[in-house]
Amino acid sequence: MLRSTRRLYSHSSSYRGVKNLKTRLTELIPEKKEELLNIKSKFNNVKVGDITIGSIIGGMRNNSSMFWQSTTLDPETGIRFHGRTIEDCQKLLPKVKDGSKSNSFLPESMLWLLMTSEIPTQDEANSLSKELALRAKSLPQETIKLLSDLPQDLHPMTQLVIGLASLNKYSSFSNKYASGQLGKENYWDSTYEDAMNLIAYLPEITGRIYSKITGNGGELLGVLNEDKDWSYNICSMLGMVNSTDSSNRCNLTKSQSDDFIDLMRLYTGIHVDHEGGNVSAHATHLVGSALNDPFLSYSSGILGLAGPLHGLAAQEVVRFLIQMNSEITSIDDDQQIKDRLKNLLDSRKVIPGYGHAILRKPDPRFNVMLDFVEKRKFTEFKDDDNIKLMQKLSTFAPQVLLEHGKTKNPYPNVDSASGIIFYHYGLKELLFFTVIFGCSRSMGPLTQLVWDRIYGLPIERPKSVDIAQLKALCKVN
Ligand SMILES: CC(C)(COP(=O)(O)OP(=O)(O)OC[C@H]1O[C@@H](n2cnc3c(N)ncnc32)[C@H](O)[C@@H]1OP(=O)(O)O)[C@@H](O)C(=O)NCCC(=O)NCCS
Repeated sequence: MLRSTRRLYSHSSSYRGVKNLKTRLTELIPEKKEELLNIKSKFNNVKVGDITIGSIIGGMRNNSSMFWQSTTLDPETGIRFHGRTIEDCQKLLPKVKDGSKSNSFLPESMLWLLMTSEIPTQDEANSLSKELALRAKSLPQETIKLLSDLPQDLHPMTQLVIGLASLNKYSSFSNKYASGQLGKENYWDSTYEDAMNLIAYLPEITGRIYSKITGNGGELLGVLNEDKDWSYNICSMLGMVNSTDSSNRCNLTKSQSDDFIDLMRLYTGIHVDHEGGNVSAHATHLVGSALNDPFLSYSSGILGLAGPLHGLAAQEVVRFLIQMNSEITSIDDDQQIKDRLKNLLDSRKVIPGYGHAILRKPDPRFNVMLDFVEKRKFTEFKDDDNIKLMQKLSTFAPQVLLEHGKTKNPYPNVDSASGIIFYHYGLKELLFFTVIFGCSRSMGPLTQLVWDRIYGLPIERPKSVDIAQLKALCKVN
């Protein structure tokens, strides 16, 4: 039976008298709507670029044809969140204030920034943590049961999609739409409610999937603590916290456990969004444009994220590092490592964790993950050869890729570092990494879905062309 969201959390609830995210969002809507409508009405015919045949056949590269509100991706400098770099966010966004030595901003702060374009106060960030923890309690029993009935060896991303898609039954948007209660003006409100519930449910869904694949039958390995933040609760329910909340299945020391939670905040804080054209974001937006609810829309995004050229790359990197480490005679034999990379390229395989469709410089998200390692390289990571190899590759692989001459961007992307750090702390189930990515990525595309509904954007329907039309355009037979 559905445990009613409204009974546990109502959007008019205020936490210590702090204005909540929905109230602030509601205040911002008129001004933002007018801004976009103004551009649309006055400049509808302004050209953004030309579409070439290369772009049509080449995965729509360099084809700026989507509207995306919260993030932009510059090929040279990387991701910006409403104009702010990761470095800015690290300085400005509120962190957890619970006496632990956390250095990473709260993903909840980032969600506030994505949704409103404003930096939240510490109280606003804390209130959002509380709101998500309270919303999490309404995860329907039916979904819990469904997850626990799935086979242990079902791909974790398939389990995630099943869990998320099942929530469509309880979607406020879908149910109101089906009963004819919704006018276009009000689409955004129930979309927002669903989106926030989805984000809130993810830690428990993730914890249950992890329990299932590790042979614990889907029973949680820790509890959801409503006085803690979203990332802490992910870690707790993975059994990866040294506290009474969690089973601490890897016997982490207190310091390791604090570092792991910090890693989770860092990872889930920087993976939220990467402008609109990447597969997971685009799929969510596309499917949402047919007026699907957030649960079905984001399930589509998750299906996209599961691909090895997208979210699954982190897992591929870990497999690659472990295999290479088992085959080389010494981690200090640089020539042997370079030769292996060359062989890989000669056999037309990709070096996972390198390259990017838009970026043309090292991924700043990779740099912050590397920074996490650097700060602990003489302590926590001093004996970890996989981590050392990851660092070493980041200095060799770009040169090897450059010499090979095909890749437009020879630099490491974020996936190059992330999985192997999780692996170090005890998350050894490689297929599972993408589920954690899926927790984080929910925030950007779902923010966009809310704004799609606020702006009343239409169904997405590009025009396709066939070979005869291409030939006619080129004047060839
Ligand atoms: C991310 C990625 C899919 C971008 O693809 P893209 O935009 O088509 O990249 P490019 O334009 O640079 O590709 C040009 C060529 O270089 C190759 N290439 C790109 N990255 C490569 C890599 N890491 N290793 C080997 N070859 C690579 C491509 O396969 C392509 O070869 P082809 O012409 O024989 O098909 C690609 O770089 C890749 O496969 N990387 C490895 C997987 C990965 O890390 N994904 C996570 C992304 S965040």
